[in-house]
Amino acid sequence: MKHLAKLRLYLLLMCFHTGSSKTCRLKERNTIADCTKSGLQDIPKNLPLNISELDLSHNKISFLRSHAFQRFELLTVLKIDYNNLENIERESFNGLSKLRWLSMEKNKLDISSRDFKHVFKPLNNLNHLDIRYNMDKLVTKATVEYPFFGYMSNLTTLYMDLAENPVFNSSGFELMLNLQTVRFEKCYLKQMLNDTLINLPRNIISIYFYRCYSFISFVEPNFLRPLPVLKELNMFKVRIRFQDALKLLYPFTGKEMTSISFIQVIGFAAKPVFITRDMVKYLKEICVQTLVLGESEIVGYEENSLLAFKYPQCLEYVVFSGNRFSLGIENHEMELIVVAMTATNLKYFDLSYNAINFNDVTYCNIEALRNVSYRNEIYSNGCKVKTKVAEQYQSSNSNLRYSEMTEEINITVSMPANLTFFRLSHYMTSYKEYGLNFFVKKLSYFAIPGFVVLESFIFSKYILRHTIQHKILGLNWCQLNAFYPQIISAYISKYRNCSYEGFND
Ligand SMILES: *[C@@H]1O[C@H](CO)[C@@H](O)[C@H](O)[C@H]1NC(C)=O
Ligand SMILES: *[C@@H]1O[C@H](CO)[C@@H](O)[C@H](O)[C@H]1NC(C)=O
Ligand SMILES: *[C@@H]1O[C@H](CO)[C@@H](O)[C@H](O)[C@H]1NC(C)=O
Ligand SMILES: *[C@@H]1O[C@H](CO)[C@@H](O)[C@H](O)[C@H]1NC(C)=O
Ligand SMILES: *[C@@H]1O[C@H](CO)[C@@H](O)[C@H](O)[C@H]1NC(C)=O
Ligand SMILES: *[C@@H]1O[C@H](CO)[C@@H](O)[C@H](O)[C@H]1NC(C)=O
Ligand SMILES: *[C@@H]1O[C@H](CO)[C@@H](O)[C@H](O)[C@H]1NC(C)=O
Ligand SMILES: *[C@@H]1O[C@H](CO)[C@@H](O)[C@H](O)[C@H]1NC(C)=O
Repeated sequence: MKHLAKLRLYLLLMCFHTGSSKTCRLKERNTIADCTKSGLQDIPKNLPLNISELDLSHNKISFLRSHAFQRFELLTVLKIDYNNLENIERESFNGLSKLRWLSMEKNKLDISSRDFKHVFKPLNNLNHLDIRYNMDKLVTKATVEYPFFGYMSNLTTLYMDLAENPVFNSSGFELMLNLQTVRFEKCYLKQMLNDTLINLPRNIISIYFYRCYSFISFVEPNFLRPLPVLKELNMFKVRIRFQDALKLLYPFTGKEMTSISFIQVIGFAAKPVFITRDMVKYLKEICVQTLVLGESEIVGYEENSLLAFKYPQCLEYVVFSGNRFSLGIENHEMELIVVAMTATNLKYFDLSYNAINFNDVTYCNIEALRNVSYRNEIYSNGCKVKTKVAEQYQSSNSNLRYSEMTEEINITVSMPANLTFFRLSHYMTSYKEYGLNFFVKKLSYFAIPGFVVLESFIFSKYILRHTIQHKILGLNWCQLNAFYPQIISAYISKYRNCSYEGFND
């Protein structure tokens, strides 16, 4: 008994003594140290020296001293996200010549400080650097000189904030011949000028502008010209006029792009956007595979604009979700028929969350969809759409904004032969009688319009034949009653006969 008590005391003291290392969980035969969420203010002592991965995220570390990681020679992954990092001594990362992944997202680093300038010097094998969410609008100066990145000649992805006036001319970008993806997340840019990105390496394939909260009031069409091999332009939550965002496509006219994705690209204030021929004059000249124009307040389009693609056969994934327009109004039906005939490679089309504003738009993961190994899973499970949206709308119907629709006519569209995924969930129109008949050859996923999405609804060949025979597939989109979604979810045949009772009861 006595022995045991002694042992207990001893163990307790041990724990106390080496407390800091006990807060980390060692995994994978002690090669990974998971020290997340442990209230740490410093790097724990007594960690095995031969770990290859160290995760210090979600702690309270505010300072890294020189040679802080020198003893971990084999480290390939280092994560210090969500801490209070303010100061990093110049030689903090010394010894980490094997490091491939470094992330210090969500800290308070001043990346223009003198010590930060050369802090990446030892990291000549790094592939991925993430220093997003460090700039604070209240603290950061308008003009920020970026540190020297040129030491990391193997870097392929770089995530960082974008200052109002970024100075990239002493960052050594010209040495970064492997850099492919730059993701600016949290950005304060107010102007997009011809020379803003002039110092970025010409090999960038993919650029992201995420969460640009300052209104970008002035845009020059050659802003992206310094990136001649760019294949992906992604914008998410960027405060820029939609027509200005489209203007950025100027340098890519006549070229091929993998993806153009504008989601929540909205100017100074949310205003309805009517697409004109002039606005899409560059876009329509691009051979683009994935085109996403989502949640950008589009309410309509001029004839011969949105669907007037010069290279429709390039289109594979098209998403117009979360806007407020119809593809079948006025004189547009002919264009729809033409694009359905010419976009022969179209695989995916998504026009969900349309005609009124939705708070909670979800998108299918196109990255996953593109990858054959996920395709079956997505086809059988669909996109994870939250059905609770319908409930939310009950209480927030003041947010509902109707698009003004003119008279409708019935249209029959033969869908492109390669279209296998057609999503029209949360589709709602505010007009009375709207018939749009789709004849679909080899659809494998079809989300039924309405507030309740029938996930995993696969049209087998049998059902297709069956439905065509019974004309059920000649979907008649009715106004769907937001408040009684169960009424419309029960049987597909009922869709033909839903009637609109109005929102106000
Ligand atoms: C790490 O070092 C410890 C001793 O310091 C040793 O027991 C262990 O086998 C080493 N692990 C690897 C993966 O080399
Ligand atoms: C960069 O990557 C190449 C090929 O993956 C490798 O041979 C080289 O050692 C790496 N490091 C540096 C510093 O170039
Ligand atoms: C970099 O740009 C800044 C501001 O535009 C300028 O003051 C500075 O002289 C430039 N430095 C070099 C090395 O070109
Ligand atoms: C930016 O590029 C456009 C298009 O080439 C050109 O018209 C404009 O003059 C340029 N702006 C400046 C400031 O050089
Ligand atoms: C459909 O896709 C196949 C293979 O992906 C391709 O060979 C064919 O040209 C596409 N277009 C049509 C109209 O079938
Ligand atoms: C597709 O997904 C698999 C499984 O996650 C992955 O191993 C593979 O690299 C992916 N292919 C592409 C082209 O992204
Ligand atoms: C549209 O189709 C429905 C059902 O097929 C029909 O009742 C209606 O009269 C048609 N409307 C027009 C304008 O042709
Ligand atoms: C269609 O609606 C009418 C009028 O609301 C109703 O009388 C009829 O029973 C409905 N038909 C079906 C199949 O639900």
